[in-house]
Amino acid sequence: MKVAIGCDHGGIDLKNTVLSVLAELGHEIDDQGCSSTDSVDYPDFAKSVSSLVQQGECRCGILICGTGIGMSMAANRIPGIRAALCHEMFSAKMSREHNDANILCLGARVIGPGLAMEIVRTWMTSDFAGGRHQRRIDMF
Ligand code: RB5
Repeated sequence: MKVAIGCDHGGIDLKNTVLSVLAELGHEIDDQGCSSTDSVDYPDFAKSVSSLVQQGECRCGILICGTGIGMSMAANRIPGIRAALCHEMFSAKMSREHNDANILCLGARVIGPGLAMEIVRTWMTSDFAGGRHQRRIDMF
C-alpha cells in the first residue's frame, strides 16, 4: 500500500521511527517532509499529505507534529479526509473500523516511540467495517 507521511520540526524524530515500521510492514512510502529540525509550519505538511490521499495517489497518510492536534485540525479541513488523532491502540483500531480514518495523526511530544510504533501497526492492519458505519460517514 502507498502511504503518505509528513511532519513538522516537532515530529521529525518520531517520523523516522514510523518510517521504519512502514518499511517493516512492506509499504511504499511518499515522504512529504520536513527533513530537518528547522522550524516549519505544520499546515503545509498537513495539506500536502492530505492532498495525496484525497487524490488517491496514496491510500492513507500519517501526520506527526508536537501534539498531533494542529495536524489533525488542518487535515480535517480537506474534503474527503478523515484524520484521527490517536494516542492509544483502542482508538487507533476503532478509527479504522468505525470511522474509516484515512489519516493517522500522532503527537511526538505526547507519546514515546514504542507506543507510537504499536499504534501505527494497529492502525495500518485494521480494516473498515462498513455497514452502518458507512451510512454515518456519508452523513458528514
Ligand atoms: C510546534 O511547536 C507545535 O506547535 C506543533 O508541532 C504542533 O504541536 C501543533 O499542533
